[in-house]
Amino acid sequence: MRLFTEQIAQRAGAILDLEVSHLADAISDPPSQELGDLSLPCFQLAGPLKKAPAAIATQLAAAEWDFPWIETVETAGPYLNFRLRRDHFARLALERVEQGGEQWGAGQSGAGKRVLVEYSSPNIAKHLAIHHLRSTMLGQAMANLLRCAGHEVISWNHLGDWGTGFGKLLACWDQFRDSDNLDDPPLEVRDDPVSDLNALYVQFNLASEADPQLDSLARDWFRKLEAGDPQAVERWQRIRSVSLEKFDTIYQRLGVHFDETVGESHYQDAMLQMVDQLKDAGILEQSDGADVVRLSEEIPPMLIRKQDGATLYGTRDLASAVLRHQMFPFDRCLYVVDAGQGLHFRQVFGVLKLLGYSWADQLEHAEFGVMRLQVDGAWKKGKTRGGQVVLLEDVLEQSVQLASDKVRAKNPDLSDDQVSQISEAVGVGAVIFSDMKSARRKDVNFDLDKILSFDGETGPYLQYTHVRFCSILRKASPLNLVSGDGNRLVEAEELVLLKRILRFPEVIARAARDAEPSHLSQYLLELAGEFNTYYAQHRVISDDAQLSGDRLALVEALQRTLGRGLKLLCVEPLERM
Ligand code: ARG
Repeated sequence: MRLFTEQIAQRAGAILDLEVSHLADAISDPPSQELGDLSLPCFQLAGPLKKAPAAIATQLAAAEWDFPWIETVETAGPYLNFRLRRDHFARLALERVEQGGEQWGAGQSGAGKRVLVEYSSPNIAKHLAIHHLRSTMLGQAMANLLRCAGHEVISWNHLGDWGTGFGKLLACWDQFRDSDNLDDPPLEVRDDPVSDLNALYVQFNLASEADPQLDSLARDWFRKLEAGDPQAVERWQRIRSVSLEKFDTIYQRLGVHFDETVGESHYQDAMLQMVDQLKDAGILEQSDGADVVRLSEEIPPMLIRKQDGATLYGTRDLASAVLRHQMFPFDRCLYVVDAGQGLHFRQVFGVLKLLGYSWADQLEHAEFGVMRLQVDGAWKKGKTRGGQVVLLEDVLEQSVQLASDKVRAKNPDLSDDQVSQISEAVGVGAVIFSDMKSARRKDVNFDLDKILSFDGETGPYLQYTHVRFCSILRKASPLNLVSGDGNRLVEAEELVLLKRILRFPEVIARAARDAEPSHLSQYLLELAGEFNTYYAQHRVISDDAQLSGDRLALVEALQRTLGRGLKLLCVEPLERM
């Protein structure tokens, strides 16, 4: 809509002889269509002009508004309301979408700016669990949105591949029953090596309760690993690579891609340098034998090194931030990590500021709420009744299975191949969309039945709406209707849809700015709802060839907008389902 709102803002500025920045942003829809199609509130002009908003509106309404797409200009108290000439407006709107082509929605608000987005960041030797969904998908959507708004984006996976826990796996690699010997059969050829690693880990913990010696053995192994002992390193590398391979299959399924995957293991030297740097800056203090950095009154000191000299998760984050900025001097760096780590990031950012890094202000914790699952009728945080984590893969599988039942029931004539392709897109898309639907800081209750519903605020509902656009266009194609220029799109519901479509680039820019994919998901739901209202009242294809042509052009614009929007959210737009 900026094409229009900016012209209105400029004209208002000229009439009032006033420089007004951001006036276009204030222009929105009036509360009802009877009042007009666009509304300019005059409040922010009152200050600079020293005049009442209503008087300013009157002055503006009395002036000449010589635009072919404006029909009338009227006041309603402090508001200046515009009625648009629908035929002109429709033509210009469709032209706009047409010009956008395959890039429709892309913008320049991020031009010249580099953003590093860190997301997913799982720990190796464990499965991706349902709680990883949020960071992974919100992060990927943010990266997509930022790119679409013109930023240069670096996507970064901060792999959890270091820590004393890995000493345990190395210690019991071939310690227990034969079947647990990870060389026999070798980890790499097993069906599910990550589950075997998990099982071994659990076994170690059980065994170490009975035999505390095992813990010190594990510490020895971790020390060996740190010291570069070849056997320890080789085993650790194998654990790492089978884990990464597993992650990659799921990432692929979800449409997730990283430019850089840098594990916590990478920061061993950098961490020691970081400790020295903190010492040199005079901010490292001793506290109960450990090294800490004191921050403000409101936050507890950040622990840098434990009594036994071991460095920590947080210390690695300090080193990592420095490396990220060295490799990709960024204008903004997002950490898409759950809100529970808020204190951690305040400490990390605070210490970097104390060290004098000017870019520390550009670090943002793009936090999100928890995902809860229903266990015995109550909403719990991602664990089953037995306290086990719910695996992302299992949830996807279940969702695809349920989707497949529905797809088959709806389309008995589809081939098995088609059903499986469509249900993969619907099942996975439903899970992804459920994660993007509400503002990211909110907690979400994950309810598989609900998110798979074809109506309601769901992924399948949006995919279904897209399918509807495609099927209308398919039906029209043998009729040789020429796609029209929009001149005949004069229905009120058509104007609503065209205004919605034109807001697409602005919504993307806003979602990128706020790192908030839900701006887009909500927008798409509104678009689909408005179309369904329209479709209940008007026929796209009728005996009037010219009107049909115009309406088909509208459907094409809707299809492009919804299709592009879904892709940005990693949900596949389908042609049939
Ligand atoms: N690996 C961590 C976990 O699973 C998340 C890492 C978040 N990112 C960071 N830079 N600390 O909890």
